[in-house]
Amino acid sequence: MISGTGSALPENRVTNRDFERLVDTSDEWITTRTGISARRITSGENTSDFAARAAANALSSAGIDPLDIDLVIAATVSPDSFTPTVSCQVQAALGLSKATCFDLWAGCTGFIFALMTADSLIRSGVLGRALVIGAEVLSKLVDWTDRSTCVLFGDGAGAVVLSQSERPGILAHFTGSDGTRGGVLRIDGVPLVNPWIADPQPPKPNSVIRMDGQEVFKFAVTAMQKSIRRVCELSGIQLDDVPYIIPHQANDRIIESVAGRMKIPRGRFYTDLDQRGNTSAASIPLALDEMNRAGLLAPQMPLLLVGFGGGLTWGASMIRWMPNSTQDS
Ligand code: ACO
Repeated sequence: MISGTGSALPENRVTNRDFERLVDTSDEWITTRTGISARRITSGENTSDFAARAAANALSSAGIDPLDIDLVIAATVSPDSFTPTVSCQVQAALGLSKATCFDLWAGCTGFIFALMTADSLIRSGVLGRALVIGAEVLSKLVDWTDRSTCVLFGDGAGAVVLSQSERPGILAHFTGSDGTRGGVLRIDGVPLVNPWIADPQPPKPNSVIRMDGQEVFKFAVTAMQKSIRRVCELSGIQLDDVPYIIPHQANDRIIESVAGRMKIPRGRFYTDLDQRGNTSAASIPLALDEMNRAGLLAPQMPLLLVGFGGGLTWGASMIRWMPNSTQDS
């Protein structure tokens, strides 16, 4: 079960009006096409800093000692470095000395994949208690001259503590991937260079997010519908009995389209992207922590988390909010 939540955001709030001074855009275009009015952009802290702050808040929300954590999984596409990983940096920052730590890359679906992985390890008895984190600083991967992408993203982190429980608080997961369509959403890695390559690739400019927005849009609407339906079947929970769906916060029009096609009232999709933008793997745990702190979550309430992202990847988890979760992060 999820026994605590936490989040962390940069102080620096950047509005659509601020973007009007950077690229040829307008508040009206960004708001109507995406639903985003503002986002938080780092002015110094990196991914592991937000991850550690979110994790510390989740530990305090759960009332759990750092030494009782056996596992840390950080979902991210924007680590500080290839190594050490974000999860190991969080371990060092918080003194989680008993934990096994690794990062997981699955684009914006990363948090769902990480939740499924930690849940499976706990259920199988391999490990007892986990911190599952989604953390991103996408602002370092954005082409600040590309108006079609730079306005979309924000920085931040969310985290949950996962503990063993007699009654399961995590009911089902459904996940999938399609590597054949990976090209519609790319962030290139480092060039292939070594002394045995006759024709080394030229050095590339900084890796930045490249996206075919309309293809991603169509994929997202289909993948979310499939994931929502399948996780309901797998968990045995009727969609009508789920008060809140917490979607990956990419774009309001994607969420509206899914709500319309599935005849789900828009108000049952919790969104914060108006003020956060798209924070990739951080968006779902960030939203969950906001809901927890706002007192929106009641004991035994089913919650459906659903995401999609680069890879391509998609997935959903059905959870039941357990009564002994605290709300003081
Ligand atoms: N301001 C003003 N005009 C813009 C901007 C901007 N910020 N961005 C693009 N435009 C222009 C384009 O240049 C184009 O102009 P043209 O007709 O003169 O060529 C026009 O707007 C239309 O461009 P489209 O790309 O067709 O715009 P669209 O309606 O598809 O909206 C958007 C773009 C918002 C990205 C949309 O495709 C979308 O929502 N896609 C979903 C992808 C998404 O949300 N990805 C998030 C990251 S991926 C993830 O989270 C997994």
